[in-house]
Amino acid sequence: MLKSAAQPFSKHYEVRMEMVEVFVLYYSRGGRTEKLARAIAEGAEGVEGVFAAVKRTDYATGVDFVDCSAVAFGSPNYFSYMAGPMKDFFDKSLGIRDRVTGKPAAAFTSGGGSSDSALQSLERMINSFRLEKAADGVVSVGEPSEADLGKCRAMGVALARAALKRAEEPKE
Ligand SMILES: Cc1cc2nc3c(=O)[nH]c(=O)nc-3n(C[C@H](O)[C@H](O)[C@H](O)COP(=O)(O)O)c2cc1C
Repeated sequence: MLKSAAQPFSKHYEVRMEMVEVFVLYYSRGGRTEKLARAIAEGAEGVEGVFAAVKRTDYATGVDFVDCSAVAFGSPNYFSYMAGPMKDFFDKSLGIRDRVTGKPAAAFTSGGGSSDSALQSLERMINSFRLEKAADGVVSVGEPSEADLGKCRAMGVALARAALKRAEEPKE
């Protein structure tokens, strides 16, 4: 039987275009880590269908973590570890761990020296929260160089692509 034009075709053939979100969570006191965070967002937003949300730890909640499609964590190196506010965010997020499993993730740090100790502490959190590392970490020393910012933009692109790929996978 031919369908009449009055039938609600749109209801049956609705096309939904969903944007994916790359969430860039960072702590920064002097602004260096923030510059890296913004470069990651710039990279992510250059990928079609992706937007980025950049939040310092004091403006972020577990809802941001649960709702995003991919996440980047950034911190200054404080005493060879991530800064306290970043660690506090993870401590408070333990209860939502099962709701973030498998999200693409990556980490970046700023330090006075070239140690990757703070990066390692963030990447251990990627494991603890059962996230999927989607890009190599970035360790920036001193004021972020153009090369550091370029690596961060590339991290944003990698997270965006991994998030788009995951969004296309069939849900269980
Ligand atoms: C309390 C404190 C501890 C620090 N400990 C380290 C450290 O162990 N290793 C290091 O390389 N830099 C250390 N630094 C330097 C900062 O990591 C560095 O200045 C960083 O670029 C600051 O980032 P921000 O501008 O985003 O705040 C420390 C700075 C502070 C304030």
